[in-house]
Amino acid sequence: MNQVALQPGKLERIIQMQSLIVQAAFDLDRFMQTVVNNLQDLTGAKGAVVELVEGDNMVYRSTCGSMNPFVGMHLARANSLSGLCVRNVEVLHCIDAQTDPRVDLAACHRVGVRSMVCTPLLHDRVPVGVLKVMSDKVNAFNDEDVQTLQLMADVLGAALGKQIAYDRLNKDRQRLSHQIARQEQENRSLLSERSDMLTVLAHEVRQPLNNASAALQSAAHLLAEANDLSAAQRLSRARGVMGHVLANIDNTLAVAALLTRSTPAEREDADVDTLIALTLGDFTAEERQRIVCERLSSTRTVAMDTSLMRLALRNLLSNALDFSPPGQPVTLSLSDCDAPLALIFDVIDHGGGIDQQGVPLLFEKGMQSTNPHNATGHGLGLYIVRRVMELHHGMAQLLRNCADGVTMRLVLPLAPAD
Ligand SMILES: Nc1ncnc2c1ncn2[C@@H]1O[C@H](COP(=O)(O)OP(=O)(O)O)[C@@H](O)[C@H]1O
Ligand SMILES: [Mg+2]
Repeated sequence: MNQVALQPGKLERIIQMQSLIVQAAFDLDRFMQTVVNNLQDLTGAKGAVVELVEGDNMVYRSTCGSMNPFVGMHLARANSLSGLCVRNVEVLHCIDAQTDPRVDLAACHRVGVRSMVCTPLLHDRVPVGVLKVMSDKVNAFNDEDVQTLQLMADVLGAALGKQIAYDRLNKDRQRLSHQIARQEQENRSLLSERSDMLTVLAHEVRQPLNNASAALQSAAHLLAEANDLSAAQRLSRARGVMGHVLANIDNTLAVAALLTRSTPAEREDADVDTLIALTLGDFTAEERQRIVCERLSSTRTVAMDTSLMRLALRNLLSNALDFSPPGQPVTLSLSDCDAPLALIFDVIDHGGGIDQQGVPLLFEKGMQSTNPHNATGHGLGLYIVRRVMELHHGMAQLLRNCADGVTMRLVLPLAPAD
């Protein structure tokens, strides 16, 4: 075919087609329809069609003019001009169907075609269909028409490419959203399993242990009254072991609850002495004997979540007791702070102090003892202390850390910021 200069009007319409492709709400079917309509107009054809390859057939996907009644029609690729066009990947120009051995003459009669031009539609250089113009007249198309057809086929190839990429993306998106839905379902069932386990831990394990611990305590009292001191001491040791197990369970439950919570603690006016008494009650008689309470504050009541504050103090005191020599006292000192208005709890011990390396991550989860004699902890204690104080808009800090011990400070604001 000779290259001919297209009329400016025709070029303009082809460029307009091209710019349609980049539109966001792209609709391939509508676009193909626009292409065949324009093509018929520009070439003066009787009809135009987009045929797409489907296995061994060519399918009439979009039609106009005289081809309209045949939309959806399947034709065998073998023996047809379109099939040949796809196979050889070349433009085919049939001047007279009556004498052209390449065409399916019966089919041409059926659709009333005498001359036609078809050009392959390429996606990634693979032919996926043809664009065809036809007429009921002999030799109805010239070189300019053929060139117009080819330019339109290029535009349509780009549109098909866009659609194929879009379909692929859509499929990926669907696959991903199925995966996400499945994952969410899995997460939900894991969460509900987790909450079941926590309930079992709270009610079936913690509560009976608590009851057993109280029973041991009163048994120890009775034995002490009956002067059986060695049995009373053994019971007290057993209670100490239970106390540690209970403390670990409480920490685990607290972490599960505190982690999921973003709201501040529910603070109610509570008696400070009751808080101290409850906290001391968590320890055995031997441990309590080591704890010296120093009351430098006259504050009687503070708005707080008593059970959380009890847990925080219990964690500080048990660290102080665990990480200092058995005979050494541990001081719990309460004092006032004016700016900010707060109640201060200092827990002071005379142990060996905290390894400097561990200090930056001291209040993080998983910070564990390097001391082989105290390797029972899970590194949850100080993390809980920090979270409890944050929920009270207060803070926990390492005030003193040296070779002769540690002071941990809790600042509990009296006038809550919330
Ligand atoms: N008073 C203390 N004296 C010495 N080391 C301490 C003291 N308090 C905490 N630590 C160190 O910090 C680590 C973390 O403490 P904590 O968060 O309570 O976790 P754990 O569950 O191990 O007790 C402890 O294992 C210990 O090494
Ligand atoms: Mg601890």
